[in-house]
Amino acid sequence: MATLQFRVATADDYPLVHPLVESAYRGDESKLGWTTEADLVSGSRIDAEGLLAKINAPNGAVLIATSTDDAAVPIQERPLVACCEVVRSSPQVAYFGLFAVSPRRQGGGIGRQVMAHAEEFCRREWGADKMEMTVISSRRELLEWYGRRGYSKTGESRPFPFEELAKLNSKPLVEGLSFDVLEKDLRVATEGGSGGVSGVNTPALQVGAAAIVVADTNGASKE
Ligand SMILES: CC(C)(COP(=O)(O)OP(=O)(O)OC[C@H]1O[C@@H](n2cnc3c(N)ncnc32)[C@H](O)[C@@H]1OP(=O)(O)O)[C@@H](O)C(=O)NCCC(=O)NCCS
Repeated sequence: MATLQFRVATADDYPLVHPLVESAYRGDESKLGWTTEADLVSGSRIDAEGLLAKINAPNGAVLIATSTDDAAVPIQERPLVACCEVVRSSPQVAYFGLFAVSPRRQGGGIGRQVMAHAEEFCRREWGADKMEMTVISSRRELLEWYGRRGYSKTGESRPFPFEELAKLNSKPLVEGLSFDVLEKDLRVATEGGSGGVSGVNTPALQVGAAAIVVADTNGASKE
Protein backbone atom coordinates (compact mmCIF):
# COMPACT_ATOMS: atom_id res chain seq x y z
CA MET A 1 0.00 0.00 0.00
CA ALA A 2 1.32 3.47 -0.87
CA THR A 3 2.41 5.67 2.02
CA LEU A 4 0.77 9.05 1.77
CA GLN A 5 2.03 12.44 2.81
CA PHE A 6 -0.74 14.88 3.68
CA ARG A 7 -0.87 18.63 3.80
CA VAL A 8 -3.53 21.34 3.94
CA ALA A 9 -3.96 22.92 0.50
CA THR A 10 -3.29 26.60 -0.02
CA ALA A 11 -4.33 28.73 -2.98
CA ASP A 12 -0.97 27.86 -4.59
CA ASP A 13 -2.12 24.25 -4.80
CA TYR A 14 -5.21 25.12 -6.83
CA PRO A 15 -3.61 24.14 -10.20
CA LEU A 16 -2.93 20.64 -8.79
CA VAL A 17 -6.22 20.11 -6.97
CA HIS A 18 -8.61 21.20 -9.72
CA PRO A 19 -7.55 18.65 -12.38
CA LEU A 20 -7.51 15.89 -9.77
CA VAL A 21 -11.13 16.57 -8.80
CA GLU A 22 -12.30 16.97 -12.38
CA SER A 23 -10.60 13.74 -13.51
CA ALA A 24 -12.04 11.65 -10.66
CA TYR A 25 -15.68 12.74 -10.71
CA ARG A 26 -16.88 13.11 -14.27
CA GLY A 27 -15.90 12.59 -17.89
CA ASP A 28 -14.07 9.77 -19.63
CA GLU A 29 -10.96 9.76 -17.44
CA SER A 30 -13.06 9.16 -14.34
CA LYS A 31 -14.21 5.86 -15.89
CA LEU A 32 -10.72 4.47 -15.30
CA GLY A 33 -11.70 4.37 -11.63
CA TRP A 34 -14.17 1.93 -10.06
CA THR A 35 -16.80 4.52 -9.15
CA THR A 36 -17.67 7.77 -10.87
CA GLU A 37 -20.48 10.24 -11.53
CA ALA A 38 -19.80 10.16 -15.29
CA ASP A 39 -23.05 8.36 -16.15
CA LEU A 40 -25.09 10.61 -13.86
CA VAL A 41 -23.80 14.13 -14.55
CA SER A 42 -21.86 15.62 -17.45
CA GLY A 43 -19.45 18.53 -17.36
CA SER A 44 -17.40 20.12 -14.65
CA ARG A 45 -17.57 19.24 -10.92
CA ILE A 46 -16.35 22.59 -9.60
CA ASP A 47 -14.95 25.86 -10.95
CA ALA A 48 -12.01 27.98 -9.78
CA GLU A 49 -14.16 30.25 -7.64
CA GLY A 50 -15.84 27.33 -5.88
CA LEU A 51 -12.62 25.44 -5.24
CA LEU A 52 -10.70 28.47 -4.01
CA ALA A 53 -13.57 29.25 -1.63
CA LYS A 54 -13.18 25.77 -0.14
CA ILE A 55 -9.38 26.06 0.06
CA ASN A 56 -9.62 29.44 1.78
CA ALA A 57 -12.63 28.65 3.98
CA PRO A 58 -12.01 29.90 7.53
CA ASN A 59 -13.98 26.97 8.99
CA GLY A 60 -12.57 24.25 6.77
CA ALA A 61 -9.64 22.78 4.89
CA VAL A 62 -8.91 20.95 1.67
CA LEU A 63 -6.55 18.08 2.55
CA ILE A 64 -4.26 16.88 -0.21
CA ALA A 65 -1.98 13.86 -0.47
CA THR A 66 1.11 12.86 -2.41
CA SER A 67 2.56 9.35 -2.45
CA THR A 68 6.00 8.08 -1.53
CA ASP A 69 5.70 6.01 -4.74
CA ASP A 70 6.54 9.32 -6.45
CA ALA A 71 9.51 10.13 -4.20
CA ALA A 72 11.83 10.31 -7.23
CA VAL A 73 9.79 13.21 -8.65
CA PRO A 74 10.96 16.63 -7.42
CA ILE A 75 8.63 17.88 -4.70
CA GLN A 76 7.35 20.86 -6.69
CA GLU A 77 6.29 18.54 -9.55
CA ARG A 78 5.02 15.64 -7.43
CA PRO A 79 1.44 14.80 -8.48
CA LEU A 80 -1.42 14.79 -6.03
CA VAL A 81 -2.93 11.34 -5.61
CA ALA A 82 -5.95 12.36 -3.52
CA CYS A 83 -7.86 15.15 -1.86
CA CYS A 84 -10.87 15.81 0.31
CA GLU A 85 -12.62 18.72 1.96
CA VAL A 86 -13.46 18.95 5.66
CA VAL A 87 -15.64 21.69 7.13
CA ARG A 88 -16.41 22.44 10.75
CA SER A 89 -20.16 22.77 10.25
CA SER A 90 -20.89 23.06 13.99
CA PRO A 91 -18.71 22.76 17.13
CA GLN A 92 -19.12 18.98 17.23
CA VAL A 93 -19.91 18.09 13.62
CA ALA A 94 -17.58 18.02 10.61
CA TYR A 95 -18.61 17.70 6.97
CA PHE A 96 -16.60 15.55 4.52
CA GLY A 97 -16.68 16.13 0.77
CA LEU A 98 -14.79 16.70 -2.46
CA PHE A 99 -13.31 13.24 -2.03
CA ALA A 100 -11.16 12.23 -4.98
CA VAL A 101 -8.43 9.72 -5.73
CA SER A 102 -6.65 9.88 -9.06
CA PRO A 103 -8.54 7.37 -11.27
CA ARG A 104 -5.38 5.45 -12.19
CA ARG A 105 -4.53 4.97 -8.50
CA GLN A 106 -7.92 3.87 -7.22
CA GLY A 107 -8.60 0.49 -5.66
CA GLY A 108 -5.27 0.26 -3.82
CA GLY A 109 -6.27 1.56 -0.40
CA ILE A 110 -5.56 5.28 -0.91
CA GLY A 111 -9.20 6.30 -0.38
CA ARG A 112 -9.30 4.37 2.90
CA GLN A 113 -6.17 6.17 4.16
CA VAL A 114 -7.52 9.59 3.17
CA MET A 115 -10.82 8.95 4.93
CA ALA A 116 -9.02 7.85 8.11
CA HIS A 117 -6.73 10.88 7.94
CA ALA A 118 -9.68 13.26 7.49
CA GLU A 119 -11.48 11.77 10.48
CA GLU A 120 -8.36 12.07 12.63
CA PHE A 121 -7.84 15.66 11.45
CA CYS A 122 -11.39 16.65 12.47
CA ARG A 123 -11.08 14.95 15.84
CA ARG A 124 -7.68 16.46 16.58
CA GLU A 125 -8.11 19.98 15.19
CA TRP A 126 -11.75 20.62 16.07
CA GLY A 127 -12.71 17.99 18.63
CA ALA A 128 -15.43 16.78 16.23
CA ASP A 129 -17.64 13.95 17.50
CA LYS A 130 -19.42 13.29 14.25
CA MET A 131 -18.62 13.28 10.53
CA GLU A 132 -21.40 13.98 8.05
CA MET A 133 -21.49 13.70 4.26
CA THR A 134 -23.87 13.53 1.33
CA VAL A 135 -23.77 10.87 -1.40
CA ILE A 136 -25.90 10.61 -4.55
CA SER A 137 -28.58 8.14 -3.52
CA SER A 138 -28.23 5.91 -6.60
CA ARG A 139 -24.47 5.30 -6.09
CA ARG A 140 -24.95 1.96 -4.43
CA GLU A 141 -21.33 0.74 -4.67
CA LEU A 142 -20.10 3.97 -3.07
CA LEU A 143 -22.72 3.87 -0.29
CA GLU A 144 -21.56 0.32 0.44
CA TRP A 145 -17.92 1.49 0.54
CA TYR A 146 -18.82 4.16 3.11
CA GLY A 147 -20.80 1.56 5.03
CA ARG A 148 -17.64 -0.55 5.33
CA ARG A 149 -15.91 2.54 6.76
CA GLY A 150 -18.59 2.83 9.49
CA TYR A 151 -20.97 5.37 7.92
CA SER A 152 -24.75 5.01 8.24
CA LYS A 153 -27.62 6.61 6.39
CA THR A 154 -29.46 9.05 8.66
CA GLY A 155 -32.67 8.71 6.63
CA GLU A 156 -32.43 12.34 5.55
CA SER A 157 -32.49 13.15 1.84
CA ARG A 158 -31.22 16.46 0.42
CA PRO A 159 -31.92 18.03 -2.97
CA PHE A 160 -29.30 17.90 -5.70
CA PRO A 161 -27.88 21.40 -6.44
CA PHE A 162 -29.23 21.74 -9.99
CA GLU A 163 -28.70 25.53 -9.93
CA GLU A 164 -24.98 25.07 -9.26
CA LEU A 165 -24.79 22.55 -12.12
CA ALA A 166 -26.29 25.07 -14.50
CA LYS A 167 -23.70 27.69 -13.48
CA LEU A 168 -20.95 25.20 -14.33
CA ASN A 169 -22.57 24.36 -17.68
CA SER A 170 -22.97 20.84 -16.36
CA LYS A 171 -26.05 18.70 -16.93
CA PRO A 172 -27.81 15.85 -15.17
CA LEU A 173 -27.89 12.75 -17.38
CA VAL A 174 -30.58 10.93 -15.40
CA GLU A 175 -33.78 11.95 -13.64
CA GLY A 176 -34.34 12.07 -9.91
CA LEU A 177 -30.86 12.87 -8.58
CA SER A 178 -30.81 13.47 -4.83
CA PHE A 179 -28.44 13.00 -1.91
CA ASP A 180 -28.55 10.60 1.02
CA VAL A 181 -27.03 11.99 4.22
CA LEU A 182 -24.54 9.68 5.96
CA GLU A 183 -22.88 10.09 9.34
CA LYS A 184 -20.36 8.39 11.58
CA ASP A 185 -19.63 8.71 15.30
CA LEU A 186 -15.98 9.79 15.44
CA ARG A 187 -15.65 8.97 19.13
CA VAL A 188 -15.15 5.39 17.98
CA ALA A 189 -11.43 5.12 17.34
CA THR A 190 -11.23 2.52 14.60
CA GLU A 191 -12.33 2.79 11.00
CA GLY A 192 -15.68 1.07 10.62
CA GLY A 193 -15.70 0.40 14.32
CA SER A 194 -19.00 2.06 15.19
CA GLY A 195 -20.91 -0.92 13.91
CA GLY A 196 -23.51 1.54 12.71
CA VAL A 197 -24.20 0.53 9.15
CA SER A 198 -27.99 0.56 9.25
CA GLY A 199 -29.49 1.52 5.93
CA VAL A 200 -26.35 0.66 3.98
CA ASN A 201 -26.27 -2.91 2.73
CA THR A 202 -22.71 -3.99 3.36
CA PRO A 203 -20.63 -7.06 4.10
CA ALA A 204 -18.61 -7.41 7.31
CA LEU A 205 -16.90 -4.31 8.63
CA GLN A 206 -13.16 -3.97 8.34
CA VAL A 207 -10.88 -2.55 10.96
CA GLY A 208 -8.44 -0.23 9.24
CA ALA A 209 -6.75 1.67 12.04
CA ALA A 210 -3.40 0.65 10.53
CA ALA A 211 -4.14 3.04 7.69
CA ILE A 212 -3.70 5.91 10.14
CA VAL A 213 -0.32 4.55 11.18
CA VAL A 214 1.07 4.15 7.67
CA ALA A 215 -0.13 7.56 6.55
CA ASP A 216 2.42 10.27 7.18
CA THR A 217 0.35 13.00 8.76
CA ASN A 218 3.07 15.64 8.93
CA GLY A 219 1.98 19.07 7.87
CA ALA A 220 -1.74 18.43 8.16
CA SER A 221 -2.33 21.07 10.79
CA LYS A 222 -3.64 24.37 9.52
CA GLU A 223 -1.73 26.37 12.11
C1 LIG B 1 -14.40 6.94 -3.77
C2 LIG B 1 -12.88 7.00 -3.94
C3 LIG B 1 -12.33 8.25 -3.30
C4 LIG B 1 -12.29 5.74 -3.26
O1 LIG B 1 -10.87 5.76 -3.42
P1 LIG B 1 -10.02 4.40 -3.63
O2 LIG B 1 -8.58 4.77 -3.49
O3 LIG B 1 -10.43 3.70 -4.84
O4 LIG B 1 -10.48 3.58 -2.35
P2 LIG B 1 -9.78 2.28 -1.73
O5 LIG B 1 -8.74 1.79 -2.65
O6 LIG B 1 -9.41 2.60 -0.32
O7 LIG B 1 -10.97 1.29 -1.67
C5 LIG B 1 -11.33 0.60 -2.84
C6 LIG B 1 -12.56 -0.18 -2.54
O8 LIG B 1 -13.28 -0.36 -3.73
C7 LIG B 1 -13.74 -1.66 -3.81
N1 LIG B 1 -13.92 -1.89 -5.22
C8 LIG B 1 -12.96 -1.99 -6.14
N2 LIG B 1 -13.53 -2.20 -7.34
C9 LIG B 1 -14.88 -2.17 -7.14
C10 LIG B 1 -16.01 -2.32 -7.98
N3 LIG B 1 -15.87 -2.51 -9.29
N4 LIG B 1 -17.24 -2.23 -7.42
C11 LIG B 1 -17.39 -2.03 -6.11
N5 LIG B 1 -16.34 -1.88 -5.26
C12 LIG B 1 -15.11 -1.97 -5.78
C13 LIG B 1 -12.69 -2.46 -3.11
O9 LIG B 1 -13.21 -3.68 -2.67
C14 LIG B 1 -12.31 -1.54 -1.95
O10 LIG B 1 -13.24 -1.64 -0.90
P3 LIG B 1 -12.80 -2.24 0.54
O11 LIG B 1 -11.56 -1.51 0.95
O12 LIG B 1 -13.95 -1.98 1.44
O13 LIG B 1 -12.55 -3.69 0.26
C15 LIG B 1 -12.49 6.97 -5.44
O14 LIG B 1 -13.08 5.86 -6.05
C16 LIG B 1 -12.89 8.23 -6.21
O15 LIG B 1 -12.14 9.19 -6.29
N6 LIG B 1 -14.08 8.18 -6.87
C17 LIG B 1 -14.52 9.30 -7.73
C18 LIG B 1 -14.98 10.51 -6.95
C19 LIG B 1 -16.09 10.15 -5.99
O16 LIG B 1 -17.02 9.45 -6.32
N7 LIG B 1 -15.97 10.66 -4.75
C20 LIG B 1 -16.93 10.41 -3.68
C21 LIG B 1 -18.13 11.28 -3.83
S1 LIG B 1 -19.22 11.12 -2.43
